[in-house]
Amino acid sequence: MTKAFVVGHPIKHSRSPLIHGHWLKQHGLAGSYERIDVAPADFPEFLKTFAARGFAGGNVTIPHKETAYLNVDRRTAKAERLKAVNTLWIEDGLVWGDNTDVVGFMSHLDRSLGKSWEQAVETALVIGAGGAARAIVAGLQDRPIGRIFVANRTLSKATELVRDLAGGGMLEVLPWEEIGGAIAKAGLIVNTTSLGMAGQPALDLELAGARSDAVVADIVYVPLKTPLLAAAEARHLRIVDGLGMLLHQAVPGFSRWFGVTPDVTPELRALIVADIEGER
Ligand code: ATR
Repeated sequence: MTKAFVVGHPIKHSRSPLIHGHWLKQHGLAGSYERIDVAPADFPEFLKTFAARGFAGGNVTIPHKETAYLNVDRRTAKAERLKAVNTLWIEDGLVWGDNTDVVGFMSHLDRSLGKSWEQAVETALVIGAGGAARAIVAGLQDRPIGRIFVANRTLSKATELVRDLAGGGMLEVLPWEEIGGAIAKAGLIVNTTSLGMAGQPALDLELAGARSDAVVADIVYVPLKTPLLAAAEARHLRIVDGLGMLLHQAVPGFSRWFGVTPDVTPELRALIVADIEGER
């Protein structure tokens, strides 16, 4: 039986076991996917020993993504670019690390907006400069988008992100106070901050001047419809919620460990939505 895991600290709220459990059942596979709580000090040892414990690989979440990047034997180009690893597997006895947040976000946009949506986007505005923002910016850089603005409360982190990811698509730091002015230009606006999450203040953007064809995306998925997405919808803008990124980032790992490429279906989405709603 193939075994996989999600490792983090804390880990009990991870929804990944629900996602992978659903796919295992759907495909009739005799596998398992479990949560493992590992404290930061023990994580390098965990990386060295999971294969001997019978695991084919797993997902890595907060706070271990950077340590995983530093300690794997081999990395994909995406993991190299982002300096963070969220998916592990064994190949020829070596521990490999990938970052599937990039494909997670982009697949979700492609599925939600249809083919070639990016042809209509000259300017994208990414709000936030954490790990998720890095993955999203790297994904957008692979598309023919003219300019990507990055705005963050802490300006220095936006500057760092732009410096680290320079060289693939036009990236520019946008001071936080200038977000309002950039909204009118943006064909795609993405919130990657935790603003709008249950218990947090909303990301309060003035969308009155937004283009009528603008898309507003959020990576927050509790609640599913954040105040930002509700405001965008009220202005008849297209919206993309945060759940799809979580679901799509899980696909490459499942495929590596269990040998079947699963699909993100409405049924899977409904299962996770019910879980989110049950918790609130
Ligand atoms: P993740 O890995 O999910 O991206 P992170 O690396 O902790 O998480 O990044 C969180 C992001 O949310 C950062 O851009 C952070 O801004 P700062 O760099 O200024 O901290 C942003 N963020 C969190 N709380 C915020 C708030 N109250 N107002 C504005 N931005 C906020």
